[in-house]
Amino acid sequence: MGRRALRKIDPNLDLSRHLLHLEELAAPLDGAALFGRSAPLELEVGSGKGLFLATAAADHPDRDFLGVEIAYKYARFTAARLKKRELPNAKVIHGDAQRLLSEWVPDESLAAVHVYFPDPWWKKRHRKRRIMNRTFVRQVQRVLQPGGLLHFWTDVAEYFEAALDVLAQETRLLGPQAVEARPAEHDLDYRTHFERRMRLHDLPVYRSMFRKPA
Ligand SMILES: C[S@@+](CC[C@H](N)C(=O)[O-])C[C@H]1O[C@@H](n2cnc3c(N)ncnc32)[C@H](O)[C@@H]1O
Repeated sequence: MGRRALRKIDPNLDLSRHLLHLEELAAPLDGAALFGRSAPLELEVGSGKGLFLATAAADHPDRDFLGVEIAYKYARFTAARLKKRELPNAKVIHGDAQRLLSEWVPDESLAAVHVYFPDPWWKKRHRKRRIMNRTFVRQVQRVLQPGGLLHFWTDVAEYFEAALDVLAQETRLLGPQAVEARPAEHDLDYRTHFERRMRLHDLPVYRSMFRKPA
């Protein structure tokens, strides 16, 4: 399934409050400084077109949401979406999630990490590029606060099983807890664009949630 071309972004939109660049970000990451308040901070890895960030930020104004997206055109698209909705509690970082986690994010600083439909890297020789690898899941365990949540969804059964094995071997996160699909009440009532696409094509989605022991 190919991806549709992105809609053009209005060049007059000021994205400066919603689009951040990893290399320009002060380390360690300080959610309170970024958002100007102290609130639970959640991170989405590979935020694509930003549907999750926009919906979650609108639904939970008491929480702050950061996306990290390696493809600049998607990071900009997401930032434009957040700006158009004037969401003060969501931003996207253009950069590599693996570097963000290992070099910027302090221990026990995140209330949740969301990983939705990560690139599957189908070919066997490319599997080592998958984000749900040993180093990454250990980093997720480190950065989650006690009681914090990891949400991991994919449409690839084999990736799902492999990631659950890595999580069991490398972390003490409790799970997987199964997550049921919710009926969509409108055209964008999906967790992400990839979930929407899979559901509209009647393809399976594998959903899991893990919790860091309190
Ligand atoms: C298959 S898409 C899914 C997008 C979105 N999560 C969704 O469900 O609609 C995977 C996204 O992860 C991004 N990505 C891949 N590797 C990444 C990395 N190391 N750091 C940040 N983003 C990454 C890709 O650019 C792409 O936008």
